[in-house]
Amino acid sequence: MDNWKAKWITTLRNTDDGTAPLYFRNVRMRKAVKKAVLTITAMGVYVAEINQKRVGKFILAPGWTAYRKRLQYQTYDVTDLIERENRLEITVGRGWYHTHIPGFEMVEADYSRLQAVLAARPFGLLAQLAVTYVDGSGEVFGTDERWEASTGRVRFSDIYHGEIFDAAYERKEGLPVQIFDGPWDTLIPQEGPEVREQDRVGVADFFITPKGEYVFDFGQNLTGYVEVKVKAERGEVVDLSFAEVMDQEGNFYTKNYREAKCTYVYICKEGEQTYKPLTTFCGFRYIRVNRFPGGVTHAKAEHFTAIAVHSRMKRTGYLTCSDGMLNRFFSNVIWSQKSNFLDVPTDCPQRDERLGWTGDVLSYIKAACLNYDVEQFFEKWFGDLRADQRENGSVGFVIPDVTQDPNSSAAWGDVAVTGPWEVYLAYGSQGLLTKQYESMCRWVDFITKSTTHKNLWMGGWHFGDWLALDAEPGSYRGASRDEFVASAYYAHSVSLVILAGEALGKDVAGYRQLYQDIRKEFCSVFPDYRTQTECALAARFRLAKDPKRAADQLAEMIREAGNQLQTGFVGTPHLLHALSEYGYSELAYTLLLRREYPSWLYPVSKDATTMWEHWDGIMENGAFWCDEMNSFNHYAYGSVIDWVYTVAAGIRNMEGYAGYEKVCIAPVPDERLGWLEAVLHTRHGQIRSVWRKQNDVWRYEIEIPVDGEIRIDGRVYEVGAGNYCYYSKIEKA
Ligand code: BGC
Repeated sequence: MDNWKAKWITTLRNTDDGTAPLYFRNVRMRKAVKKAVLTITAMGVYVAEINQKRVGKFILAPGWTAYRKRLQYQTYDVTDLIERENRLEITVGRGWYHTHIPGFEMVEADYSRLQAVLAARPFGLLAQLAVTYVDGSGEVFGTDERWEASTGRVRFSDIYHGEIFDAAYERKEGLPVQIFDGPWDTLIPQEGPEVREQDRVGVADFFITPKGEYVFDFGQNLTGYVEVKVKAERGEVVDLSFAEVMDQEGNFYTKNYREAKCTYVYICKEGEQTYKPLTTFCGFRYIRVNRFPGGVTHAKAEHFTAIAVHSRMKRTGYLTCSDGMLNRFFSNVIWSQKSNFLDVPTDCPQRDERLGWTGDVLSYIKAACLNYDVEQFFEKWFGDLRADQRENGSVGFVIPDVTQDPNSSAAWGDVAVTGPWEVYLAYGSQGLLTKQYESMCRWVDFITKSTTHKNLWMGGWHFGDWLALDAEPGSYRGASRDEFVASAYYAHSVSLVILAGEALGKDVAGYRQLYQDIRKEFCSVFPDYRTQTECALAARFRLAKDPKRAADQLAEMIREAGNQLQTGFVGTPHLLHALSEYGYSELAYTLLLRREYPSWLYPVSKDATTMWEHWDGIMENGAFWCDEMNSFNHYAYGSVIDWVYTVAAGIRNMEGYAGYEKVCIAPVPDERLGWLEAVLHTRHGQIRSVWRKQNDVWRYEIEIPVDGEIRIDGRVYEVGAGNYCYYSKIEKA
């Protein structure tokens, strides 16, 4: 919007003690109103009310972007809220704008300097109410010197630490606001989907821990907050803490939140009341009631409802099968996606990080695009990636790049290339690809320029095969060689730049040559593979001289390990594909269906309701992997679900197509499952692929909305849109 009729306002004195300033103004309508529109943004997170009714449903607006370059504003139709005399009240909490991210200091500043930087940031507000009267004339009420500021009922607000809300607080007199030259160049209209309240989850269980703590269990790990309904006397307090799991003794466990305090303190007014926080969120399954009106023994299940909050996204993919544990696993993947798609794709929603870790997105994005329509969600995030990409083309560890670490890691920064390509394959629109193409090229060019070994990526700092099980004891980094992983991803990214360039009609001759050179060098420098992840990458990216042999070696390594995977963030998304692409589908299923540690189903056996960061976040003996890095809501390993859609159920784009404009359905059943059903809502309509064991035959039901091919048992059927049924004999081993 170019014609703002408002000024940036802030409080006269900026004290960042966590209190959220409240800005207000009374406005009078001179005539009957036809339409009223509020346009608004803030440096922090805002909650706007007109005549004590909340404006819109956007939680934590204006959302989280690369603030140095982009700050979204929102526009709401508020016609229904407007009366003759109106009271506009806007609270601005710290949000991401002011929050010191405890787990990650910005390297640019030492802690005290950082505190000073944050404390000096104004709680800026820019808003305007544009009114059209029935006679066609109009009026705009923008933030300006006529507004006042005061302290409101949000006495403390912080993304990581929670909220203190005093419902009994009598507001102080307003003070004049200060006009300042806030960010104008960086303002952009809302780009991503709105963050909204999505699901309400009631209490499933109540118990008192050995330590005597009063704990309510919602039965589902999720991200959002808790709504409290209570009858109280003025000044009584509800005080809640949050946790994902209980410790080995059954006590309330918060150590894995690290420095994120995640507490709500609600100071009651008189009578019946409902509270939910306005300016914070966290990931949790359990709450501990620390204080409650009349004492904690008065807290009952009916007082609490968990509310899951995330970006709006339409569910598109559904998987169900004959195995209850696998169904729970599918559900856990969905819940981890919901939990970590709160405006930015985050690693985890609970501890003192909750950051847009690029490597986590890289491993999960394909699965994300199958489960939900996340095109708009990623349009925004890649907009931030583009904005935060550095001069030299490198991409930070997290987007928005709040850590400002100058390094770039392979298989993290590569999301700059793999991400837009996956989004294109999923939805078929060239919009994002076109916007990102230059950024994609700049990323691979950065590698070309910064490597210490021509045609491979050597040097630099990398996370490696993060959290792989072949790591040295005590290390987070798996045994795969950094240069191997980095060079494999270099090749892979260049190959995708070529495909993207071809799709967009660009000249990619230079990248084709580069790809040939990388592949040649890769084969000569890395003739052998030392880990499961190295084999998987060499096979899947077709980098090995003989990819089939790399897959053979992978299968052998897995069998030698006792049918156990050892891969981390880098190898896991490719593991089952690398097997099934070379004839080892049965082994892939063995890994998928394995219930003992290490496996995807092991956490399910430990009552997980979301994906864990570690294969053994809770070990077989019940102890935790560790306290300091142990999230129980990390989507990365949920990436395997893409194998279930695309290989087990066999739903894919036909070679050379995107967005399921033409499809190939090539199911791969396995006798250990009686049946599997996958449904995918594509932009062209619904695809459904089901297989079921009937005595000694497989029965396949396939529904496709477009032309395509169906591949069953080595036969290829070219078909048009419609419903099909096939049978194939079950081969006995
Ligand atoms: C995050 C990860 C991330 C990693 C990078 C962790 O603290 O939670 O998921 O990718 O750091 O090393």
